[in-house]
Amino acid sequence: MLVSDPCGAPVTAPSDPESLDALRQRLAAVASLELAALDAEEIAVLGRKQGELTHLLKAMATLPLDEKKQRGAALNALKLEFDAAVAARRTELKHGAEARDAREVDLTMPGRATWTGTRHPVTVVMDEIVDIFRELGFVVALGPDIENEERNFGALNFPPDHPALDMHDTLYVDTAGADLPAGERLLLRTHTSPVQVRVMRAGPPPYRVVIPGLAYRNDPFDASHAPAFTQMEGLAVDEGISFVDLKATLSHFARRFFQSDAQVRFRPSYFPFTEPSAEMDVSCALCGGSGCAACKGSGWMEILGCGMVHENVLSNCGVDPERYTGFAFGMGPHRIAMLRYGLADIRLLYGGDMRFLAQFGALGQ
Ligand code: PHE
Repeated sequence: MLVSDPCGAPVTAPSDPESLDALRQRLAAVASLELAALDAEEIAVLGRKQGELTHLLKAMATLPLDEKKQRGAALNALKLEFDAAVAARRTELKHGAEARDAREVDLTMPGRATWTGTRHPVTVVMDEIVDIFRELGFVVALGPDIENEERNFGALNFPPDHPALDMHDTLYVDTAGADLPAGERLLLRTHTSPVQVRVMRAGPPPYRVVIPGLAYRNDPFDASHAPAFTQMEGLAVDEGISFVDLKATLSHFARRFFQSDAQVRFRPSYFPFTEPSAEMDVSCALCGGSGCAACKGSGWMEILGCGMVHENVLSNCGVDPERYTGFAFGMGPHRIAMLRYGLADIRLLYGGDMRFLAQFGALGQ
């Protein structure tokens, strides 16, 4: 029996046993469909617009009540079964794919290597230096990399015409348009010594600080220079501190950091902010003093600059030079790492080559 849908197209009546049989066969076939065919079949049978079963359900509207009940029940049951069969097949296909993927994992393959980081050799050196001075009662102080000329030079007793202020050595910050006090110029600090000024101006003595940080100079990158490099500054100011304290503290540091039997020597030197000033050498850690490539045959390695804090610096920073004295020192952890590990080229310490870097300080060491 044929009926018409509201648009006039002939549809198969639900009572048509052929169409129900055909649908039951298609239902039976669902269990063996592959994914694309399954999707297509779902639309063809259950689709909301063109689905055959949907069509049959819609067409029931025109049937007398008792037929409607009977066939409605049959069609609805078929629809539920179809839904369930499609869902079951879909789950089966999904699990099958997962199982296939799982089978493709080759358990005999070696595992993937995971990288464990290491501390950078310069970090190892800096941490050790800080630890040694911490044992002596020093604390860490930090300051910003961008400084003004007054703290980087003026307060540290550099005369205004000192060659270090020259653009050739100092990297100035372009502050055009910035709201700065008249005449103030900003620069990348050329040493960590301006942090001495910050520490002293922050409160009264005593001070015992070490200051790790970066310093910048207008140097081209070559085997022994880098435009940005680490420094470790030290400052001790109290009543009654003398050059003996400086020598004892820095000799102790050298023997703790290098070897317990290391020799040290102090050579006169000059810095505007210390008086007297000295440079400290340590007997070569690699050859023990007999002379090698690392110490250029001299048997000595130059480690740091130091001196008694100049009284002008103390008074520039609000510390009474009549009452207080102190010593300061500055060293370069990049340079010290080169000396300690016998590196000929500082650029090794700026590359990220893990084959090189992994030879130093394991993490947590
Ligand atoms: N600031 C000096 C430099 O960069 C090092 C130094 C620090 C020397 C403290 C003496 C005292 O070379």
